[in-house]
Amino acid sequence: MTAPDYESREAVDQYLLFHYGSDEANLPWSFGPSGALRYPVRVVEALLDSSILPSGGKALDIGCAVGASSFALAHRGLEVTGFDLSAALIKAANQITQGEIRDISIPRSGTLEETVSLIPPEKPVSGKVAFLVGDAMNPPTPAEPGNDVVLLANLIDRVPDPWKCLQEAIKRLRPGGQLLLASPYTWLESCAPPEKWLVRDKEPPLEVLQRTIGKELKLAFRTDIPFLIREHERKFQWSVAEGTRWIKSG
Ligand SMILES: C[S@@+](CC[C@H](N)C(=O)[O-])C[C@H]1O[C@@H](n2cnc3c(N)ncnc32)[C@H](O)[C@@H]1O
Repeated sequence: MTAPDYESREAVDQYLLFHYGSDEANLPWSFGPSGALRYPVRVVEALLDSSILPSGGKALDIGCAVGASSFALAHRGLEVTGFDLSAALIKAANQITQGEIRDISIPRSGTLEETVSLIPPEKPVSGKVAFLVGDAMNPPTPAEPGNDVVLLANLIDRVPDPWKCLQEAIKRLRPGGQLLLASPYTWLESCAPPEKWLVRDKEPPLEVLQRTIGKELKLAFRTDIPFLIREHERKFQWSVAEGTRWIKSG
C-alpha cells in the first residue's frame, strides 16, 4: 500500500469533511455506525482529563490535519498549537480559523461528486489556536517541557519513526502533563519499516508502549474510539482507535 497523500485537493476535502462536515454528509445512511462520527472532537472528550488542567494551560496537537481536535482543546481553555507536515492541510486549518469556510466536493461514485457545506467550529471563549507546518520528527516548537497536554491522534502509524515521534512529543510535555494517544495501529511499510512499528510478533502495541514510554509516563486511562472516514457514498472506512492517556512523571 502506498503512503497516504495529504497534500492533494481530495485529501484536504476528505479531512475537511471528517473534521467539519455534517453527520449526514459523512454518513448518508440512517442505519450506519453513527457512533463513529465526529471523531476529532470525541477523541479529545474521551481522553482529556479536564480535572487536572491548570487554567491557561498549553497544548500541542501533533499531526493536527485541518484542526478540529485543536479547537476542541482550545474550548477547554488551552492555548493550542497544532502542527502538521502537510502544507495543504495547514492552509485549510488557517482558513477555517479566519472564518474562510468554502464548500467542498465529496465523492458519490466515480467522477460523480456532491457539493456540501461545512460547519465551522465556534470561536474558543478563553483558549487560543495557532496552526503551523511542521514535522513530528523534528517539531517546530521548542524542545522544552512547556505543554500541559500533547495530543497525537492517528499519527504514530503514519510517521517514519514512531518511537522518535513519541520521544519528541514527550520532551515537550511538562511533568504531570497528559500525553493523549489515539491510533488504529494501521502500520504501513510505505510510512515506516516494520522494525520501527510499535508492535512485535508476540507483543501488542499497548504492551510495547508500556515497555517503552511507560518508563517515563504512567498509563492513566485506556479506551476504544471508533471513527468513520467516507470514501464515497457507498464505501466507508470504519476503524477503532485505541485511545490512551499517559501522565508524565516527575
Ligand atoms: C491519519 S491523519 C490524522 C489527522 C488528525 N490528527 C485526525 O485525527 O483526523 C495523519 C496526519 O498526520 C500528518 N503527518 C504525517 N506525517 C507527519 C509528520 N512527520 N509530521 C507531522 N504530521 C504528519 C498527516 O499530514 C495527517 O494530517
